[in-house]
Amino acid sequence: MASSSQDLLDAQARVWNHIFSYINSMALRSALELRIPDAIHKHGEPITLSQLADALYINAAKSNALYRLMRILVHSKLFDKVTISDQVEREEEAYSLTRVSRLLIGDEPLSLVPFALVHTDPAFIDPFHHMTEWFRDESPSAFFTTNGMDHWEFAAKDEKSNQGFNEAMAADARFVGSILVKECKHVFEGLETMVDVAGGTGEVAKALARSFSGLKCIVLDLPHVVAGMEGSENVRFVSGDMFDFIPPADAVFLKWILHDWGDEDCVKILRNCKEAIANSKINGKKVIIVDMVVDEEKQAHEATETHLFMDLLMMAYCPGKERSEKEWAKLFAAAGFKKYEITPTLGVRSIIEVFL
Ligand SMILES: C[S@@+](CC[C@H](N)C(=O)[O-])C[C@H]1O[C@@H](n2cnc3c(N)ncnc32)[C@H](O)[C@@H]1O
Repeated sequence: MASSSQDLLDAQARVWNHIFSYINSMALRSALELRIPDAIHKHGEPITLSQLADALYINAAKSNALYRLMRILVHSKLFDKVTISDQVEREEEAYSLTRVSRLLIGDEPLSLVPFALVHTDPAFIDPFHHMTEWFRDESPSAFFTTNGMDHWEFAAKDEKSNQGFNEAMAADARFVGSILVKECKHVFEGLETMVDVAGGTGEVAKALARSFSGLKCIVLDLPHVVAGMEGSENVRFVSGDMFDFIPPADAVFLKWILHDWGDEDCVKILRNCKEAIANSKINGKKVIIVDMVVDEEKQAHEATETHLFMDLLMMAYCPGKERSEKEWAKLFAAAGFKKYEITPTLGVRSIIEVFL
């Protein structure tokens, strides 16, 4: 075939895969709604298609459809396909979990299911259908263009959305918390008090307070998030607005907060953080940030892809963005901080310690 025809066909294939890549997200959502990872986990060993269809109460006429759903999920390496022998030594194909789908079992402590379900929900995808309109209007985000209010106001008014979002964030916070207490002890050692600003349902604070016995945490968030949250001796919930006041402590923790906001708002939040730690008597008082640091040149293609996905999500959802080190440094200097240290120990996210 002439190379120009081959180039054309290759280009067409690229366009098609781009157009249809949302089907990966939707196939994953379908698997989670059907609770496929739970069924395989509960089975305790590789499960055949007919066993899986029975466990999921699939309509008998649709078992071939289940096979096709599993085929794309195996192709995406969410599940493995293995060969097993039945009692009469007949070989059969069966599905097993991979390291990836183990994170998609519903009631495992580190389950990412609530996070996946919220981010593939039509309400979360809808703002992307209003992106073009948003590019030409005055709204701060495509979410605002779609709903006439920002995400936090929407969550305050819509209990279902509030609950779903808080559960999604709690799932991520449990995941990050479990890594922080293992891999990042040095960041928290020596702290007596910490405020988790916009800390949601307090999962990181709870994990830290369990691991560092002397540490007392305050979780600050909006009233609709902390309403009814039960604290403990070492974790207290406070309702408030981080733009007004942040309670004093040795350290302020900000996980996935600054990427929600534009530069001006970030500087306001960071100045309030600075005030909150100003009177701490410990050496090494600081602001601890968990967020992404974008570096398209040095980072692997896959990590950059995640960063750029999240960047557009922040653009659609909030007036926020993912930042490069240079952009972070500019914010810290504008808020009056003297130095910072980036530790890239959280996969595609980093810990940034910011000092006075
Ligand atoms: C992306 S979530 C992150 C939650 C938590 N830090 C985590 O990573 O799991 C952002 C949080 O900011 C909170 N938030 C938004 N505006 C706020 C404000 N003005 N004051 C305090 N919290 C706020 C939201 O309610 C939400 O819990």
